[in-house]
Amino acid sequence: MIPMVDLKREFQKIKEDIFEVLREILESSQYILGDRVSEVEKKIAEYHDVKDGIGVASGTDALHLSIDALGIGQGDEVITTPFTFFATVEAILYTGATPVFVDIEPDTLNIDVSKIEENITERTKAILPVHLFGHPSDMAEISKIAKNHRLKIIEDCAQSFGAEINGKKVGCFGDAGCFSFYPSKNLGAYGDGGMIILNNMRLAGIIRQLRNHGSKGSYIHKRVGFNSRLDEIQAGVLLIKLKYIDEYNTKRRRNAAIYTTLLSNNIKCPVEKNVSYHVYHQYTIMSKKRDRIQHKLRENGISSVIYYPVPLHLQEALRFLGYRKGDFPTAEKASREVLSLPMYPDLEESKIIKIANIVMKSL
Ligand SMILES: Cc1ncc(COP(=O)(O)O)c(C=O)c1O
Repeated sequence: MIPMVDLKREFQKIKEDIFEVLREILESSQYILGDRVSEVEKKIAEYHDVKDGIGVASGTDALHLSIDALGIGQGDEVITTPFTFFATVEAILYTGATPVFVDIEPDTLNIDVSKIEENITERTKAILPVHLFGHPSDMAEISKIAKNHRLKIIEDCAQSFGAEINGKKVGCFGDAGCFSFYPSKNLGAYGDGGMIILNNMRLAGIIRQLRNHGSKGSYIHKRVGFNSRLDEIQAGVLLIKLKYIDEYNTKRRRNAAIYTTLLSNNIKCPVEKNVSYHVYHQYTIMSKKRDRIQHKLRENGISSVIYYPVPLHLQEALRFLGYRKGDFPTAEKASREVLSLPMYPDLEESKIIKIANIVMKSL
């Protein structure tokens, strides 16, 4: 069986360091908001060349707390993509704000920036681009639109740790960059976790309070907040894995290049647009014969996943937003045609060749 990701293999390479950090944490009995959380916040902020990083309980919370701290809520609209993981929109809805969808580009599958302005109303408060599958959204254009209309930008970087545009890392373009450390992410913990990176220290102060019951100090509460802290064990794991993230991303890019060399004459492969450094959280092909390809792969013991089979505007849970089939044709087509193939740093070339051969034979 070739899995989508191979976390066991990754663990084998770093397990001595992991056991050592776990031992230290367990012996110190410092589990919540301890030294390692502070250290990983500092290191991830430095990695991005921003002023602050705030560890939270998940990527979903990173988005939610950022939107909330920006003062966005009931009666406000947030522009985003219908082709993303559901959490992007849940985070908007938790604040009472309304997500407004804009269709995607057919090649990067990220929000189509040429369609954003026509969706801006007097209620629009922010744009929430998602750097889907590790390819950055067009932040130059999004920043321009946001500036012209005085909108905030919250970047969903859950799938794009280390991705860049013209040498600048994603998460640094907007008011807040939001990361997920879900285990299978490019930088994954061994449980849930997330982080917000930002330069605005006033906003950082609000988010720090929100993540810890609105507390300013011991049992002094400035606002009603949440219990959303990155825990010390996850921070310890992240500190070890952070040392390897550039190597992991380089290997993902090498694997993507091999897939693309083998497949691109016959099938739609991922692109790299706008001087982007794509970090291939997923390697996602598109084909009208998607279901057949997936069936053949399965027959040969190869995993593949459809991210995402139903675009958000057609999800039952979001019916109340009033969207209909046909509203976002590019996102709908993507849902019919996408297929993500196995992708992880140590995926061997021989396996990529095997996977590519089966894909080609099923066309
Ligand atoms: C695009 C996107 N946004 C948000 C999230 C939410 O992150 P988490 O699972 O850490 O809450 C995820 C990942 O799961 C994601 O892929």
